Amino acid sequence: MIRSKIAGIGMYVPENVVTNQDLTRLMETSDEWIQERTGIQERRYADRKNETTTTMAVEAAKVALERAGISAQEVDFIVFATLSPDYYFPGCGVLVQRALKMKEIGALDVRNQCSGFVYAISVADQFIRSGMYKNILVIGSEKHSFGLDFSTRGRNVSVIFGDGAGAVVLQATEEDGRGILSTHLHSDGESAEMLAMYNPGTHANHWTPASLADFDEVEIGQMFMSHAMIDKNQLYPYMDGPSVFKKAVVKFPEVIIEALNKNGLQPSDLDLLIPHQANLRISQFVAHALKLREDQVYNNIQKYGNTTAASVPIALCEAWEKGLVKNGDLVCLAAFGSGFTWASALLRW
Ligand code: ACO
Repeated sequence: MIRSKIAGIGMYVPENVVTNQDLTRLMETSDEWIQERTGIQERRYADRKNETTTTMAVEAAKVALERAGISAQEVDFIVFATLSPDYYFPGCGVLVQRALKMKEIGALDVRNQCSGFVYAISVADQFIRSGMYKNILVIGSEKHSFGLDFSTRGRNVSVIFGDGAGAVVLQATEEDGRGILSTHLHSDGESAEMLAMYNPGTHANHWTPASLADFDEVEIGQMFMSHAMIDKNQLYPYMDGPSVFKKAVVKFPEVIIEALNKNGLQPSDLDLLIPHQANLRISQFVAHALKLREDQVYNNIQKYGNTTAASVPIALCEAWEKGLVKNGDLVCLAAFGSGFTWASALLRW
């Protein structure tokens, strides 16, 4: 039976470290508030001119390819997850294809925000299981720092996010029991506007929540981006933090249990859970709900903040580099985010 395994993993984070203290120079906030609510101590911001979502992805991908022992020309397909692409279109997948001088392979961008990488893994896994491809480069990368509101008005969102990239080479294997055991994907669009960036977009006014009802009336023929949006600060992400928190602490454990049940396993069987690094408090809730020991859950949001689609591969890569993921270990990747969407992938390393 063909399964997919992670044959190589890499990460890249920018050099520029931004501490909570640094943010107090831009907005009314404090190290104490940020640490208490999110666990974050510092995050990385990409170089404004020279680093993009794609350039960071390429650096992570080079490491993943080298560790997998294959060249860029041996990759059959690219799946790229991000919410902060270099361009509104085309996606970043083709930019990676160009940068790494790959063959004219397919490149797919996934837009599932915090769950993006786990969704991307699931998509790639299906292509490998079907026998269509042997080596797929799966990437999560974000450059959030280009588009956050660093005034006090945007502080509930901007203190949380950081930049970085992670990548894996997913490879076909017939080794018994190894590789991705199952993946599980979910969504609930009822709360789509609770964690969203509305503009630029083609939405109509009535979709936006009452708290943001100050949008211009949408008229036939209106541009999808206007000066009013800039004047009214409507080009930044919006987050109803408490609503996200409430849903996340239910759906995270649910989708992890779903993966374990599917494979006849229990939380105590897990060697390592790699949760999307949304917020340390959310991870702690999840660990408590599943009765996991501290050493069964890997968190590094303290150092990098929330890097959305990049957080799972960055955390997995760091855990692997520290020797915390060994051959035969049962590892669960899980994520929850905007959409809302949530997902898990259970694998035997
Ligand atoms: N510094 C200081 N004060 C702040 C900041 C800040 N950075 N941000 C908000 N505040 C203030 C608010 O203005 C508010 O003040 P008020 O009471 O005078 O009106 C007060 O703190 C409480 O605001 P809330 O938004 O209710 O803050 P809460 O305690 O809920 O914490 C947080 C906010 C951390 C975002 C929390 O809601 C949360 O953890 N939500 C989960 C969402 C999350 O983690 N998102 C991550 C990204 S999405 C994802 O990856 C799934």
